[in-house]
Amino acid sequence: MITIHKGHIFHIAGAPMVTAAAEALAWFPNGALAIDRSGRIVYCGNWADRPAGLDGSQVIDHHGCYILPGFVDTHMHFPQVFCAGAYGGGQLLEWLNNCVFPSEGLLADPEYARTAANEWCDRMINSGTTMGLIFGSAFPHAQDFLFETARERGLRIVCGRGVETIAPEWSKQRTTEEEAVRLVRAEIEKWHPLTPEARKVALQFVAIVPRFSLSVTPKTLAALGDLYHEYRDRGVYFTSHLNENARPKTGEIDSTKAVYKVAAYLDTYDGKFLPGSQVGGKSFLGKRSVFAHCAHCTDKELARLAESGSSIAHCPVSQLFLGSGTMPWRRTVAAGVNIAIGSDYGGGDEFFVPQILNACFKAHISEGIPVGMDSYPSDDQSISLHPAELLFTGTLAGARALDQEDRFGNFDVGKEADFVVMDPSKCNTYAMTLKHMYKNPVTKLARDAQLFAVIMLARESVVSGTYVRGRKLKTSKG
Ligand code: GUN
Ligand code: ZN
Repeated sequence: MITIHKGHIFHIAGAPMVTAAAEALAWFPNGALAIDRSGRIVYCGNWADRPAGLDGSQVIDHHGCYILPGFVDTHMHFPQVFCAGAYGGGQLLEWLNNCVFPSEGLLADPEYARTAANEWCDRMINSGTTMGLIFGSAFPHAQDFLFETARERGLRIVCGRGVETIAPEWSKQRTTEEEAVRLVRAEIEKWHPLTPEARKVALQFVAIVPRFSLSVTPKTLAALGDLYHEYRDRGVYFTSHLNENARPKTGEIDSTKAVYKVAAYLDTYDGKFLPGSQVGGKSFLGKRSVFAHCAHCTDKELARLAESGSSIAHCPVSQLFLGSGTMPWRRTVAAGVNIAIGSDYGGGDEFFVPQILNACFKAHISEGIPVGMDSYPSDDQSISLHPAELLFTGTLAGARALDQEDRFGNFDVGKEADFVVMDPSKCNTYAMTLKHMYKNPVTKLARDAQLFAVIMLARESVVSGTYVRGRKLKTSKG
């Protein structure tokens, strides 16, 4: 049995680099997305051109709606589900100490943690996020609730308990180094698909997640490195924060370099965490490793990320909120590192990926633009990102960052059908703008302008369906 979803389709076809996303943009205003019983795509194209073999299929007509690949959020914090918009009275480190560490401690209560897991999965479904790379809670019961709820609802997640072996005295999340390794191993054994057969069909995966280098000891990094080495061939992931806050002396980057006495922050994750960047353990870098922010990497760090196949989770909303600056788009792309989008919720106060792409566009068209007129820079960093580059960053780049580009991220035939249906009739401004906006007679320009508005003006309320592997997901409210 084949099901055809009719609607206005956009996706990034094939496997382009971000710089070739515009050429790879596929557009079918009267489109058909045909899916077989196993949830795989058998056709994506014009409704009128569908193969005769599809006659007799069940048809779901999303009349007037847009169909895009499911959004992939490569950096989000589950235990911060109720702490967006938290006032920390400063930048990253003040916000962590004053708001985030105490909030995350609330998940020690199992009832609270259950509510948090439920709400988290509801939000992913309501916002069309079909896959999330998630910083988890330090509490095993909270992690169990999240994995169980994601499994029940059919959501894709990669998640791992946040490891802290250094934390304020009052923190409930700190463990010893031995306990940290024991708990991470237990989580992998319980929730990660350990065989190749299981991995091919799994939707939930485990990551090793030291909160950031300042939250762990060199001994923890060495032990987690050994653990990662033991499991990395079985598809276990790694994620952490890198080069986020550049405030001189007291900020995250300078503090990390001072504590570890290393030449570069990345060295702490690359096995070179001993003084003088000497090797002290195994590297976490690789094609299933994602580093959040990377707003202040050196050229050498970017080159090392690229060469190792690691990806960046770019979190523009959070970077604005926490005064982190922004990831330099041109330089990072030029270095060849894959850039995917991240909400960094609750450091970012926005869950909905199109709105994070909206911030991404604004951050980079404004990048390096000075306040005064006198000092307009000669090395202009401003870039007007193409709407296809935005769509790529919010979908296919995320699948690539998670080394699952062969399974989802676009509508190529054979992939699993993860998609989001956006219904303009649910938001008057959206509907009226898309209907009445100027349509350039040059088809390509009309296409690009339409996709741009579809992304930039979308609000969570327009999401009318979120599908993973062809199946519509249900929230706790049905
Ligand atoms: N660095 C360490 N922990 C965090 C966190 O929770 N959010 C962000 N944005 N940065 C971090
Ligand atoms: Zn984060």
